[in-house]
Amino acid sequence: MTGHRSFFLDEALDGYVQAHSPAVDDVQQSLIGATAALGPLARMQVAPDQAAFLAVLVAAVRPSFAVEVGTFTGFSSLAIARALPAVGRLLCCDVSTEWTDIARRHWAMAGVDDRIDLVVAPALETLRALPAEQHVDFAFLDADKTGYLAYYEELVPRLSPHALIAVDNVLWSGRVLDAGAEDADTVALRAFNDHVIADDRVTSVLLSVGDGVNLIRLA
Ligand SMILES: C[S@@+](CC[C@H](N)C(=O)[O-])C[C@H]1O[C@@H](n2cnc3c(N)ncnc32)[C@H](O)[C@@H]1O
Repeated sequence: MTGHRSFFLDEALDGYVQAHSPAVDDVQQSLIGATAALGPLARMQVAPDQAAFLAVLVAAVRPSFAVEVGTFTGFSSLAIARALPAVGRLLCCDVSTEWTDIARRHWAMAGVDDRIDLVVAPALETLRALPAEQHVDFAFLDADKTGYLAYYEELVPRLSPHALIAVDNVLWSGRVLDAGAEDADTVALRAFNDHVIADDRVTSVLLSVGDGVNLIRLA
């Protein structure tokens, strides 16, 4: 298991949540171990219950084309890719070759590497380069927080009617409410959440899963 848990749960309740979420399999366990070897950065990896949540969303939406912005070592993308329908493809965006090499290894171990396209480049460039006719059926945003609004604005016009966008870390360990927190990430996350709830094009719900997930669909 990962060492981290939802910021909003105590250890006992988190244990209960994990015990009532799908068990971690060998590939996930290997990925947790490989990521833990990176040291404190391993905190960036989504928790198993959140990966299971993404998998449930993807299985319900049945995306032909899914996008992940912020892949790191691949835990969330592994869950998304495994839940895709047979025709589904996942575009993964990240700037790190070192971290995504770990992801690639584990996608291959799980037999899902043939349904994933990884682009190592700033995600905004990758999204802007998508063909005009490319619809997006599912997106998971989990990269630089100051980029969220721009990623969202690239994605919303491309959404298919039943698409979902799941956006991670939107409660930022509670700092969105801390009046003294004026760092760029916190300011960006507050602005992002305010923008989404005021955006008539979409309907959203802010969930306290993990570090907060803003779940968005077309209105
Ligand atoms: C929180 S981690 C993603 C965790 C991942 N979803 C998981 O489940 O393990 C954030 C990732 O965003 C990537 N990133 C940061 N800035 C980026 C950018 N401008 N474009 C693409 N990826 C970026 C980082 O390299 C890092 O791997």
